[in-house]
Amino acid sequence: MDNFNKAQEIVKKYHQEHLLKFYDKLEEDKKNQLLEQILKTDFELLNKIYEDVNKEKSTEDKITPISYTDKSKLTEEQLEQYRKKGEEAIRANKYAIVTMAGGQGTRLGHNGPKGTFVLKVNPEKSLFEIFCDKLKEVKEKYNVVIPWYLMTSTENNDATIEFFEKNNYFDYPKEAVKFFIQDEIPMLDKNGKILLTEEGLIKQGPNGHGGIFEAMFNNGIVEDMKKRGIEWVFIGPVDNPIVQMVDEVMIGYAIDKKVLAVGKSIVKANPSEKVGVFCKRNGRPSVVEYTEISKEMSEETDENGELVFGESHINCNLFNIKAIEKIGVDKLPYHKAIKKATYMDENGKIVTSQEPDCYKFETFIFDSFGKLDNMEILRGKREEEFAPVKNKEGVDSPETAIALYKAYYNIK
Ligand code: UTP
Repeated sequence: MDNFNKAQEIVKKYHQEHLLKFYDKLEEDKKNQLLEQILKTDFELLNKIYEDVNKEKSTEDKITPISYTDKSKLTEEQLEQYRKKGEEAIRANKYAIVTMAGGQGTRLGHNGPKGTFVLKVNPEKSLFEIFCDKLKEVKEKYNVVIPWYLMTSTENNDATIEFFEKNNYFDYPKEAVKFFIQDEIPMLDKNGKILLTEEGLIKQGPNGHGGIFEAMFNNGIVEDMKKRGIEWVFIGPVDNPIVQMVDEVMIGYAIDKKVLAVGKSIVKANPSEKVGVFCKRNGRPSVVEYTEISKEMSEETDENGELVFGESHINCNLFNIKAIEKIGVDKLPYHKAIKKATYMDENGKIVTSQEPDCYKFETFIFDSFGKLDNMEILRGKREEEFAPVKNKEGVDSPETAIALYKAYYNIK
């Protein structure tokens, strides 16, 4: 059976016949692309996710506080001991970094991969250049080239590589940088029909930062790390110019505590801040979203006046390679977001939703924590860890990130 017939059978089986309705009108290469998309799509999974769309999220989970260590309260002696252990691991080439750069950055609205966004500081630098500079600094300090893996998406992979090539990897050794593409998932309309792009292809997007583990396995990244003798992997975001990609204390702390993972937290700015916080869920490490906990819980304090659920998850986590293997290749649960979209409807008309009315599905990295028996939480200082570039303006925008970046590096 040829690909067209195979695709036709599939769309019929899953009541998605509209996907092939405009097939004849497509250019030859687009025809092939569409067929490939259909053959690659996991329709069973989509059906299942769609079935869950209107189900209430389980409220039966038992959410309890997780213990944490405040880095600023460690003694000089402890800090030195952890720093030394972390440094040893780096010097022994046991440390690698993964940057999650596959997001669409829709809120920022930057034309291009988010890492190419230029921070207007003096001298101006893109986020990617800022990270390269950090890695070069570490290279100088320890005489070690840390392997750097970047997760991209189908959408931004070429543009990301092109940017690095054009800038000669900002003089970081090119052979130490590896790109890998995360999986994607189609968007659905309210009736569970897969959306088509304006060109008549399946409209899909990256499957969330939780796609990191399967992408690392499926692209041979874990294997590559093991071959190189990597034991510790920092997985962090692309949209934080002061992200501590190399925190010796964090690495040494993980080694000393003999845990498989450490999550970096910063304390919540206030009880109502809209962030997810580390917790235990049914006894296992997790993150509880602000929408999931009551006002009382979010305001609860301990005997020292500290918020009981106050350790914000900032997407900066350290994993032992064994933890990554334990988490494995299985897909994490999908969460739905309702978004506006521009798409081709079943009559071939291009429609832009006026109100959010399309489903986008994403997995979250912190849903992997539950697969680990335990993890340590290390609290850092907001001003030393977190300058997010999320929105075009206002909170967590380039303007706020620049101010934080300048304060951190003490520049005018
Ligand atoms: P966000 O959750 O803030 O998403 O990403 P985003 O896609 O960058 O921005 P919006 O929501 O569309 O405005 C947090 C981190 O996770 C990465 C992002 O690149 C960022 O480093 N990410 C997110 C991925 O790598 N893949 C994804 O599918 C989603």
